[in-house]
Amino acid sequence: SVSKLQLVHRHIRAFPDFPKKGILFRDICPILKDPAALTAVIDLFEEHVRNNHQQVDLIVGLDARGFLFGPLLSQRLGIGFVLIRKKGKLPGATVSVSYDLEYGKAEAEVQEDAVAAGQKVLLIDDLLATGGTLYAACELMKKLQAEVLGCMVVIELKELNGIDKLKLHNVFSLVQY
Ligand code: PRP
Ligand code: HPA
Repeated sequence: SVSKLQLVHRHIRAFPDFPKKGILFRDICPILKDPAALTAVIDLFEEHVRNNHQQVDLIVGLDARGFLFGPLLSQRLGIGFVLIRKKGKLPGATVSVSYDLEYGKAEAEVQEDAVAAGQKVLLIDDLLATGGTLYAACELMKKLQAEVLGCMVVIELKELNGIDKLKLHNVFSLVQY
């Protein structure tokens, strides 16, 4: 639906040289501030999931901005939500993986019992840049023997070719720059 996409598009801002010189930062805060725009995002994700995936067991969201959209979507679908967090935030037994960012380095973690072997999951985040973060999340899911059905983001930054890094996994995005 074109009008829902237009609504989403109109609620994304760009800030030059944030958080470092040379980065054009796409800001999704206006989406969260506008109930109609946020509803449009979740509607579009829900439509995509219902049209493309028969059975999904869990939505897996990435720290931090994947947490803004993931639980809203999982609740719509009537399934659970799992958190992948930056290192050191999750209690109990965890598995972890390190990765490179467009502007730094980080380590991601998931609780060992978050996903059972063979479960079908969809990953969600706000934005795909280099693909390092989503790739790391896929690695974590592989460690837990989960089946990654695909990745979903609000925004894809095409010039960074993150999709190449994720070539084994299908990526769905609402808005592309
Ligand atoms: C941003 C963004 C994605 C990731 C995309 O998060 O929200 O998670 O970077 O970049 P990539 O495709 O190059 O990996 P960031 O790591 O800045 O953390 P935050 O969500 O905690 O702000
Ligand atoms: N905007 C928001 N988050 C990001 C970006 C961006 O341009 N690049 C990497 N993470």
